[in-house]
Amino acid sequence: MNSKMKIEEIMAHKGKRKLTMLTAYDYPLASLIDRAGIDMILIGDSVANVILGLESTNQVGMQEMIHHAKAVSRAVKHALVIGDMPYESYQLNPEECVKNAKRFIEEARCDAVKLEWFERCPEITEKIIKARIPVMGHIGLTPQTADKLGGFKVQGKDAESARRLIEQAKILEETGCFSIVLECVPDRIAQLITESLKIPTIGIGAGVFCDGQVLVTHDLLGLFERFKPKFVKRYINLSELILKAIEEFKNEVIEGKFPSLEHSFSIKEEEWRKIQK
Ligand code: KIV
Repeated sequence: MNSKMKIEEIMAHKGKRKLTMLTAYDYPLASLIDRAGIDMILIGDSVANVILGLESTNQVGMQEMIHHAKAVSRAVKHALVIGDMPYESYQLNPEECVKNAKRFIEEARCDAVKLEWFERCPEITEKIIKARIPVMGHIGLTPQTADKLGGFKVQGKDAESARRLIEQAKILEETGCFSIVLECVPDRIAQLITESLKIPTIGIGAGVFCDGQVLVTHDLLGLFERFKPKFVKRYINLSELILKAIEEFKNEVIEGKFPSLEHSFSIKEEEWRKIQK
């Protein structure tokens, strides 16, 4: 598992075995995710919510994303590392999209970038791919433009909007994306999209028929408590364990139990006597 994942390998897994992807924003968690053998690590703009305590993913910019992406890349030996293009880097500034995508690859050592669907997505995606930067698409519930989608709601619930999603997926495949995230899409529509594409789909709230699954790591670890979408499975409640450890430290300090001799340094008796003279 020491060899580095390649785009071609990710694509070749379609129909053979399921793919795994998790988010990371720092060195220690990226290192653990990599050691566990996860295929892809996404430096998601969800960093805004789960790390920086912001309300919207649109509140993070290139500076924050590159800072976190650099820390993740330093830790990763195996997984494919994907930088999530923040709102300002291509939707707000379309003319800067290639320059910003290059920063993820050259400065932060990412292997690819991810872009959320919006009206100019095909044109922007094409430009980035022409610059030889691999792109992962993202359709369905796209948080950067959630206000235009009626809020944080499941997408493609009626035939007309489902058809639009199928069309968007086809366009992204034709444009050259190596994979597509499907967020909050009914499972049968996700299945239809998955079966109609040659490239792998990675689902989040899109059911079991996708080619792979992604979750925000802080959600699955129980480290983010502000809200919990229906599609999140908490595999552990780390917040509870961390709180317990911190309270124990506080109590031991107050009671003079920490540090014990085991965690203290001593001085030789003769030196001690000398200083007391
Ligand atoms: O920002 C993010 O974490 C994401 C995933 C939910 C796919 O885009």
